[in-house]
Amino acid sequence: MRITRAGWAVMTALSTLIVAVSAKYLDFDPAGFFTQQRATYLSHQLPLYVHIFGALTALLVGPWQFAARLRERRPRLHRRIGVTYLLGCLVGGVGALLMAPVAYGGAVSGFGFACLAVAWLVTGGAGLRAILDGRVTDHRRWMIRSFALTFAAVTLRLMLIAVAAAHLDFRTSYTAIAWLCWVPNLLLACWFTRSRRPGAGAAA
Ligand code: HEM
Repeated sequence: MRITRAGWAVMTALSTLIVAVSAKYLDFDPAGFFTQQRATYLSHQLPLYVHIFGALTALLVGPWQFAARLRERRPRLHRRIGVTYLLGCLVGGVGALLMAPVAYGGAVSGFGFACLAVAWLVTGGAGLRAILDGRVTDHRRWMIRSFALTFAAVTLRLMLIAVAAAHLDFRTSYTAIAWLCWVPNLLLACWFTRSRRPGAGAAA
């Protein structure tokens, strides 16, 4: 199964939009911090910014790895972007692990984010291992799973918009979203990459 052009365009547009929105953090102005967490973020600026720098990089460059034309015509560029993506996941994932214990919503949301961070690091590492071993189909599968987890940043924020529109209790919703933003993404990616046909799971 392949990602359609339209699917790729939507994925890339949403990822870029969330990068643009989250880039407000890069002016280091506490007034722009997630309101309920402002005090926490002020006392955890190093891990927060480590997380945001890495994660923003991964979300910005990740979609381009699924552009078939670029992958086929510019394999060296694909590798360079791939290294950038994986470094982004590594730095963003370590920062996320440091931020998870102080996440809004308490232990349940913190554990949700910590599991997401571990899954993010594991899928990226497995994708790297696979390509270093020359297992291209496995590499594609793991990288699709990895990006589905990176995309949790998008699903989380779309869900927060829905919560605000539906006037749901923010704390309860946020706790649920700490899980809902990534578990369905991962299940969908596993289903998408389930095929036994060699080369399946390749994108666009
Ligand atoms: C996929 C693994 C990720 C994990 C485990 C993770 C985890 C976290 C955690 C625990 C926090 C603190 C949340 C709180 O205070 O309640 C946070 C905040 C944040 N993360 Fe991530 N994150 C991930 C991916 C990303 C990505 C890909 C981006 C790129 C846009 C991103 C951007 C941010 C931003 C901007 C914040 C500050 C709070 C906000 O305005 O939403 N994260 N993240």
